[in-house]
Amino acid sequence: MDLLVEEGSVFKSDMPALMVGVFEDRWDDAGQKDLLARAGTPLESARASGEFAGDFKQTLQLRPQGLKTSCLLLVGLGKFSECTLERLREAAAVATRELLGRRISRLATDMFILGPQSEPVARRAQAVAEGAMLAGYRFDRYRTEKRDKLPPGLARLVCRVEGSADREAVEQGVQLAQAVCRGVFLARDLVNEPGNVKSPLYLAERAAALTHHSQLTCEVIGEQELSRQGFGALLGVARGSSREPCLIVLEYRGGAEDEKPVALIGKGVMFDAGGISLKPAEKMDEMKMDMAGAAAVLGTFEAAASAQLPVNLVGVIPAVENMPSGTAMRPGDVLTSLSGRTIEVVNTDAEGRLILADALTYCARYQPRAMIDLATLTGACVIALGHHAAALLGSDAQLVQRLQDAGRSSGEKVWEMPLWEEYAAQLKSEIADLKNIGGRPAGTITAAAFLHRFAEGQNWAHVDIAGTAWEDSGTPLAPKGATGFGVRLLMSYLRGE
Ligand code: BES
Ligand code: MN
Ligand code: ZN
Repeated sequence: MDLLVEEGSVFKSDMPALMVGVFEDRWDDAGQKDLLARAGTPLESARASGEFAGDFKQTLQLRPQGLKTSCLLLVGLGKFSECTLERLREAAAVATRELLGRRISRLATDMFILGPQSEPVARRAQAVAEGAMLAGYRFDRYRTEKRDKLPPGLARLVCRVEGSADREAVEQGVQLAQAVCRGVFLARDLVNEPGNVKSPLYLAERAAALTHHSQLTCEVIGEQELSRQGFGALLGVARGSSREPCLIVLEYRGGAEDEKPVALIGKGVMFDAGGISLKPAEKMDEMKMDMAGAAAVLGTFEAAASAQLPVNLVGVIPAVENMPSGTAMRPGDVLTSLSGRTIEVVNTDAEGRLILADALTYCARYQPRAMIDLATLTGACVIALGHHAAALLGSDAQLVQRLQDAGRSSGEKVWEMPLWEEYAAQLKSEIADLKNIGGRPAGTITAAAFLHRFAEGQNWAHVDIAGTAWEDSGTPLAPKGATGFGVRLLMSYLRGE
């Protein structure tokens, strides 16, 4: 994919399509008047008939006279005062998707001129480029038939700037968008990959491949060493699978030598059959997405390294498969975690918190300034928030606040749930230090309360992405399947946005 910034009016571009934004309440402004003049009668009549007014996400395709391009695609941005970065992103995505559906894969735009003027042009350009690129994602590795019938991916996006004043800012914005999208695409690819292909060691190989970035290192701790060190909770989950588990540890050093790292932890259950507490058949296939937290962490490392972010990062990914078998752990088993705490496994399907417990304990050794875990942890999260927001719980108000800010600026929404002490009582066990489920009430909170016990003394937050990691119907920014949720959120967080 080429992403170019060029000087000159968008209307002078020779790309096969131009993507131009309009506000529903700005038809008297100079820019839109100019557009009316260029588009002439077809646009006038579309407005007169009510076919196109500039409502948010509305589109109108015109075949303009006197331009080098054969397709002028107008996309509505709604009301001027209501236009956010997310609206800009979505409008760019809607328009791009429409063009790709018509097999047009090269386009020029100047849409970043519009959007919230309180935001710098670099961020508006980033939003437009992200929208266009994210809309062009597809996962077609395993389609051998009728491939030519599928819409093409985005081949070229040209951002046209008038004069040189904005050029540098727009270049910065689109470069950042490109880094972010590389990370999102990596995360989506990993989540879409089927379970027969992605074993824990497959994930480790994909993680190791990231070390082509010179500031990035990767270490993989195998089963023997995990056992020697006492990762009892992680190994308990892995016992049902014939595939070897591992712990993937990444480091990225973009910040000052003595600066403490931010730690990112991702749930890497490559497939969650539930173990002996077997899941029902319906939708079990979707449980290949149970490593979306891990994928988001890897995606964020890819994005951060591509963008050369000036921060230090540690990534910890416990990678296992949760399967039923004669060697699997049983409901009622007691495991000794890396922290020394014992856990009664009442339900083997509550496996994510078990592997994360050991990962959190391990991670504390790095003395991180913040520790953030991402996990497709609970079905209860999907019931509470649906597919539009991730649940956020944390031990530090400032960290929670910063993640909320990042959610707003990235468009990846998070919603706080309380981590009050009272909930921890549901995890009391008769025979061990705690049990791994807290019953039906407040399932997302009791899962976080479980993790909290293993993040003691740390500046920690937990993001439950069970409802946001996978898209059932497809949105402008993400086709059906993996969304890559978390990469954009974490990138905004790390950039302090
Ligand atoms: N991976 C699942 C949670 C999940 C459900 C993710 C739906 C995405 C969509 C997790 O391991 C799980 O099975 N959780 C159980 C916990 C329960 C046994 C306490 C659940 O939510 O049902
Ligand atoms: Mn499970
Ligand atoms: Zn799971």
